[in-house]
Amino acid sequence: MTTSIPHGGQLINRIDLTKQINESHKIVAIDALELSDVELIANGAYSPLTGFMGKADYESVLSSMRLYEPSLPWSIPITLSIDEVLANNISIGETINLAYNGTIYAEMTVTDKYKPNKQIEAEQVFRTTDINHPGVKKLFSRKDYYVAGPITLFKRPKKSQFSTYYLDPKDTREKFKELDWKTIVGFQTRNPVHRAHEYIQKSALEIVDGLFLNPLVGETKADDIPSDVRMKSYLVLLNEYYPKNRVFLSVFPAAMRYAGPREAIFHAIVRKNYGCTHFIVGRDHAGVGNYYGSYDAQKIFSNFTMEELGIQPLFFEHSFYCRKCENMASSKTCPHDVSDHMILSGTKVREMLNKGIRPPKEFSRKEVVDILIEGLKVNKL
Ligand code: ADX
Repeated sequence: MTTSIPHGGQLINRIDLTKQINESHKIVAIDALELSDVELIANGAYSPLTGFMGKADYESVLSSMRLYEPSLPWSIPITLSIDEVLANNISIGETINLAYNGTIYAEMTVTDKYKPNKQIEAEQVFRTTDINHPGVKKLFSRKDYYVAGPITLFKRPKKSQFSTYYLDPKDTREKFKELDWKTIVGFQTRNPVHRAHEYIQKSALEIVDGLFLNPLVGETKADDIPSDVRMKSYLVLLNEYYPKNRVFLSVFPAAMRYAGPREAIFHAIVRKNYGCTHFIVGRDHAGVGNYYGSYDAQKIFSNFTMEELGIQPLFFEHSFYCRKCENMASSKTCPHDVSDHMILSGTKVREMLNKGIRPPKEFSRKEVVDILIEGLKVNKL
């Protein structure tokens, strides 16, 4: 695979910054997750979606991980929720303004409205209806109706201080061309990059032209490390430990769903839209707690052919530091006993930092730990 064609054949562009807001339209308040979805639909990251999903696409995504029309792989519902009063007040064919915190960012022409069965949505998407699961909790806190239709974005949401690292799919594709990379591996993360991440990224770099480090910086659960602190840690790590011309960093401004296997498919398709040919799926990708098996997010890929996905997943075993090997390894490469292994994860690094314990160098690079300690101090003030 040497080129990546956007999902559905072409990148969607629903951005029109010259368009005047029509103040006479009804205003629908959207939340941070919905705003991030609006932007990612508009900039083509969610191609072929042109708007929020109608009932046919929604039900098809839940039951068979495919859009209804066109029938392409898609694993996560992208929906806009409204309350019953508004649902009764909005007509099909009407254009509404979408506002976050009182600011209008986009408009949507309504093509469908429907009442979802959240119980079924939770079972299908999250494989659980347990309200302690952060994705399920979020789902049940949303309003009771969904409204759908194509959107147009006329104001870009505010960026963090790392504004130069917000690139649209058309820009990352351009960048990869400029770098003359034919094969590009995408890496999703919501954590600081620890040694296991580095190990699997660099293993992948042995076989492809470039690494696209694409941290998710939208809404995450409260105990995940803030994205600005993570950004600092990525920059120092890349500077010290990665060859400059083989890595490209830009952010994925989406919210985390914590949907494990289904989110892995979604993450891969979106990274294809950003121009990747390959995508890393390691241990418990996009998982939380013990809701998913370590390799469920890899197994789910067998539901699709490579042709229809259009991006090659690269699967990695649970990686750890082995005291005997004196190296990063996995069960595929290390013959030693588990007692020789230092098992590391983002959760563990976070737990240590929160307890004021400095993660050892086998977990995280010293420069990264320094930034995290400093960042967490500032964020606690
Ligand atoms: S995620 O929610 O964004 O998936 P995280 O940032 O921890 O969480 O993981 C980023 C990627 O690294 C995922 O593909 C995940 O499966 C992988 N990963 C994380 N830790 C390990 C590990 N110890 N061994 C192998 N893969 C891992």
